Amino acid sequence: PGFPALLKNSLAKVGTPSEILDFLFKWMEVSEDYPKVPEAKGSIRAVQSEAFFIPLYELYLTYGGIFRLTFGPKSFLIVSDPSIAKHVLRDNSKAYSKGILAEILEFVMGKGLIPADGELWRVRRRAIVPALHQKYVAAMISLFGQATDRLCKKLDAAASDGEDVEMESLFSHLTLDIIGKAVFNYDFDSLTNNAGIVEAVYTVLREAENRSVAPIPFWEIPIWKDISPQQRKVNEALKLINSTLDDLIAICKRMVEEEELQFHEEYMNEKDPSILHFLLASGDDVSSKQLRDDLMTLLIAGHETSAAVLTWAFYLLSKEPSVMSKLQNEVDSVLGDRFPTIEDMKKLKYTTRVINEALRLYPQPPVLIRRSLENDVLGGYPIKRGEDIFISVWNLHRCPKHWEDADKFNPERWPLDGPNPNETNQNFSYLPFGGGPRKCVGDMFASFENVVAVAMLVQRFNFQMALGAPPVNMTTGATIHTTQGLKMTVTRRTKPPIVPILETTMLKVDETGCVS
Ligand code: HEM
Repeated sequence: PGFPALLKNSLAKVGTPSEILDFLFKWMEVSEDYPKVPEAKGSIRAVQSEAFFIPLYELYLTYGGIFRLTFGPKSFLIVSDPSIAKHVLRDNSKAYSKGILAEILEFVMGKGLIPADGELWRVRRRAIVPALHQKYVAAMISLFGQATDRLCKKLDAAASDGEDVEMESLFSHLTLDIIGKAVFNYDFDSLTNNAGIVEAVYTVLREAENRSVAPIPFWEIPIWKDISPQQRKVNEALKLINSTLDDLIAICKRMVEEEELQFHEEYMNEKDPSILHFLLASGDDVSSKQLRDDLMTLLIAGHETSAAVLTWAFYLLSKEPSVMSKLQNEVDSVLGDRFPTIEDMKKLKYTTRVINEALRLYPQPPVLIRRSLENDVLGGYPIKRGEDIFISVWNLHRCPKHWEDADKFNPERWPLDGPNPNETNQNFSYLPFGGGPRKCVGDMFASFENVVAVAMLVQRFNFQMALGAPPVNMTTGATIHTTQGLKMTVTRRTKPPIVPILETTMLKVDETGCVS
């Protein structure tokens, strides 16, 4: 060690308080003895493009699994290395907070589960996780089926009229309808109704996305934040959502008071299986503001993510007809023409692989955000407290060294008899739902929701990109959106006649449904 390090050690030995030592020797923390995080240069303009995670991929190929990106006074560490991701998310997760993300989302999620940190997060996570127990998730399967059936009816009408459909917004409505019922027993019915509360929810969501990609925090500018028409609209929308949530909480409280059900681990009110109902029945001792924050967090977390997964899954399927026909074969043989049940979730293996693979190619969100709460060492480089870190799940999921044909949509890369891929069995090279203590609480919910939706849609329809559809490019908010929607032509499937089992060995059914 050099002289400053010796001096620091000597002062520590004579009992100098560590705060004073830290202050005096701050300059020395990233000392010449240590390597410095590689710094990406001359690439700042590129990163200002819409889907910012795309240029980060190129920079990753040049600078490696951890590098620094500087914009004026701000700088970020971009992490694309599985072992560093594991360290930040799991092994040393206590040393990291949600940082910028919490600041951006404060206006809508307050101190809800996604932005919350420290003790508050621990308490809320402990209250909320039990609400998503197995019996609840199983009960949700029929909700997923009913909601997808409503979407099928819409598609059926479009197919009859020969009209193309914009699937991205339909998926957004589908998942909003589902999550509203699942979280607080409210039927947005956004597939048929787009006014009032539905519009308010979208206003707030778009605002959250605008804020997350804004170069400066425009919403903090004095006066502007009070007179800007957009900010006023956002405030109005928030007021409407909050009062709706307060009403739902009040209604649910009355139901809980009147019911005679005893609370237990797998408690569920059949009439209202929502998470809100579970929380109130559990006697969750929490302010109504905190409860609202958690409900809003669940609503947002469970809505855009699933909609994005479905959008990109159908986009990918439209480009790989062989995957689509294999998928349809599985769905036909497992479901025939009935609705999916919980037992089918294990059987719809290829369907699950299709979703696994859509989540690999289009992870939602494409980057995870953290801030260091103390000094640490990442990939051999010392880093300081207060560093903003982006873990690029996009880069992890497309790393050419780790994945064969990384950009190819190939559900076969995961054998059907193998385990369902997750961050643990893929050693943090695949993080569809994050990892460590802050891992998604809705992973099973979301997986089943996506399986039910994909299975029911391909069971009844064929999907193709519409003739003259706008090109499908990416843009980022919290999740990956298309720039101009996903315009598809939907046609009803003509099912082959059901052939008695004994005869199937001799008879073949061709694509037109004829038996030969
Ligand atoms: C956290 C992905 C659906 C609730 C996360 C995280 C990811 C994720 C990657 C970790 C974020 C981080 O570490 O910074 C997804 C995807 C979904 C999905 C891809 C759909 C396919 C859902 C659903 C719910 C939900 C349906 C609720 C029912 C949450 C919550 C957190 C979270 C509350 C924060 C957990 C915490 O910080 O303790 N999700 N999610 N998610 N997700 Fe999901």
